[in-house]
Amino acid sequence: MKILILGGDGYLGWPTAMYLAEKGNEIFIVDNFIKKKIESEFGIKPLFPTKTLQERVKIWNSQTKNKIKFEIGDLLNYRFLNGVMEQFKPNCIIHYAEQPSAPYSMANRERAVFTQYNNVVGNLNLLFSIKKNCPEVHLIKLGTLGEYGTPNIDIEEGWIKINHNGRSDRLLFPKKPGSFYHLSKVHDSANIEFACRIWNLRCTDLNQGVVYGITTEEINKDFENFCTSFHYDGIFGTIINRFIAQLVCKKDLTVYGKGTQKRGFLNIMDTLKCVEIATLNPPKLGEFRVFNQFTEFSSLNELANLVISSGEEIGYHAKKINIVNPRIEMEEHYYNPKNTSLLSLGLKPLKLSKKEIIKNIKFVEKYKSNLNEDLFKPAIKWDLNEKSI
Ligand SMILES: NC(=O)c1ccc[n+]([C@@H]2O[C@H](COP(=O)([O-])OP(=O)(O)OC[C@H]3O[C@@H](n4cnc5c(N)ncnc54)[C@H](O)[C@@H]3O)[C@@H](O)[C@H]2O)c1
Repeated sequence: MKILILGGDGYLGWPTAMYLAEKGNEIFIVDNFIKKKIESEFGIKPLFPTKTLQERVKIWNSQTKNKIKFEIGDLLNYRFLNGVMEQFKPNCIIHYAEQPSAPYSMANRERAVFTQYNNVVGNLNLLFSIKKNCPEVHLIKLGTLGEYGTPNIDIEEGWIKINHNGRSDRLLFPKKPGSFYHLSKVHDSANIEFACRIWNLRCTDLNQGVVYGITTEEINKDFENFCTSFHYDGIFGTIINRFIAQLVCKKDLTVYGKGTQKRGFLNIMDTLKCVEIATLNPPKLGEFRVFNQFTEFSSLNELANLVISSGEEIGYHAKKINIVNPRIEMEEHYYNPKNTSLLSLGLKPLKLSKKEIIKNIKFVEKYKSNLNEDLFKPAIKWDLNEKSI
């Protein structure tokens, strides 16, 4: 397949590019390095250095026969996007190229506007470019499980059948997201569903949980040259990464609020498998298909306890403390999201185990001197102060 990976310099995009190239697909990456710009705006760095995209691609192409091509550019630039589509003529597009930080989107008006402009307009440009250049392409779009929020009913995979006043219909599942970032994904989903309905496009929207993990088979071949980013900070960091980083620094694991909030998550290797499963099983033309892409869910307290007990096996004695929640979110809630679609297409999930956590702790230990404890603090509060408005 000819697969265009938008956002191919990112945490997930780069490992996906290598994984799918290794399977014999022709890979073309696009990225505008906006994530790197946001990192420098906040003075944050991933735990260990990654090579530039140019260096990684050059080394990869010198070592394998499954070459990767790339072009630097912005999805907001419609002319650039059309040029890529005309030149490459993809059969499949994996769209990761969005601003993915909920805290960033809640920092102030400018960053909320940037997040929605970048994500929603970039995605709209893509839909128009698909319609113009390759209307039969399979679009695989990364959404998030956070689009649904925490409703007091079971969460279906994107759609729900509703009976109302004696009539029934199949409608998009109602969404109650918790940040302007998550809202951008909701708007994307609505725009894509509309484009599938009116233009007969086809899309798989992957409502993904939080991804953890540092390595994949391809990264393991040459970690120094092929590694992807590991963030533990308050902007791009994810909770498991931060807990592990705090443990390694012998600090308390800080849990936001009561810690009874539940979140879905999955291993980075399962992200690659899920995306591959989607590429191999395209929906029909006109179909907007949604998969909930997570393999398990837990409360924040359960995750902290798992990191603490894993650490105990190798000599750490950490404890968790509950701090004031910087987010405005429901802390005690019902949570039952469905995830049967990817399982029925053959996904065999990796489970988050003590062994996996210990493996990650040992990785972080190697780069302990790079850890900046200031970055453990929540960077942004959801209730804006005067200045940020
Ligand atoms: N990592 C997770 O845990 C997770 C969970 C759920 C959903 N997602 C979604 O998956 C996707 C990838 O996540 P990630 O963690 O790899 O994020 P990332 O920030 O590491 O990667 C996104 C990449 O897209 C690029 N990009 C952003 N806007 C662009 C634009 N307008 N034009 C060109 N390139 C642009 C960035 O420079 C970056 O390299 C995102 O859409 C994110 O919302 C990620």
